[in-house]
Amino acid sequence: MNALEALHGRTSAPRLTEPAPSAGALENIFRSAFRAADHGLLRPWRFLVIRNEARERLGQLFVAASQAGDESLSPERITSIRNKPLRAPMIVVTIASLKEHPKVPACEQEYSAACATQNMLLAAHAQGVGAMWRTGAMAYHPLIARGLGLVDAEKIIGFLYLGTIAGPRKSQSVPEIDDYFQEW
Ligand SMILES: Cc1cc2nc3c(=O)[nH]c(=O)nc-3n(C[C@H](O)[C@H](O)[C@H](O)COP(=O)(O)O)c2cc1C
Repeated sequence: MNALEALHGRTSAPRLTEPAPSAGALENIFRSAFRAADHGLLRPWRFLVIRNEARERLGQLFVAASQAGDESLSPERITSIRNKPLRAPMIVVTIASLKEHPKVPACEQEYSAACATQNMLLAAHAQGVGAMWRTGAMAYHPLIARGLGLVDAEKIIGFLYLGTIAGPRKSQSVPEIDDYFQEW
């Protein structure tokens, strides 16, 4: 697949199954993150790789954070929350690691970390690896940040679920260019 085919054809894969991407495919995905646009070349990111039983520990963390806000969660809801990280063989957590810089505000560093995540989505797609960027309340919960070892100057940008695509690829809507691009 060439670059334009990947850019024009990428879709998310909400249903993922084993196996996880090969070591070679993963290396390509990780290296793609480093080519994100990055004002000041601050590399304002780091990534946590969560696979195998670590997904179960993440599920327990999700439950603990959810119960901290609502002690009356039903057993079914708790099971559903605990199983969320099991929706793919592996998850890469993108963390924006914000640096003090006179010309590069924190928001730009977050954009860079988001671009890194998008690059990984594209690298996955280009290799036939299924991927989906998820956030939800857990991405912004202080207990999750603490449990994953984030420090004050860090934020979760997303959970990148990776695996083998299960089921048919979803169809893609193609917007009209003129609806979004206008001459000024
Ligand atoms: C920052 C961010 C967070 C997202 N969080 C979720 C999420 O928690 N759950 C979800 O279903 N989709 C989420 N999405 C959207 C999907 O990743 C996906 O982009 C969307 O379903 C559109 O599908 P497509 O990527 O195939 O066009 C998120 C996207 C972004 C950029």
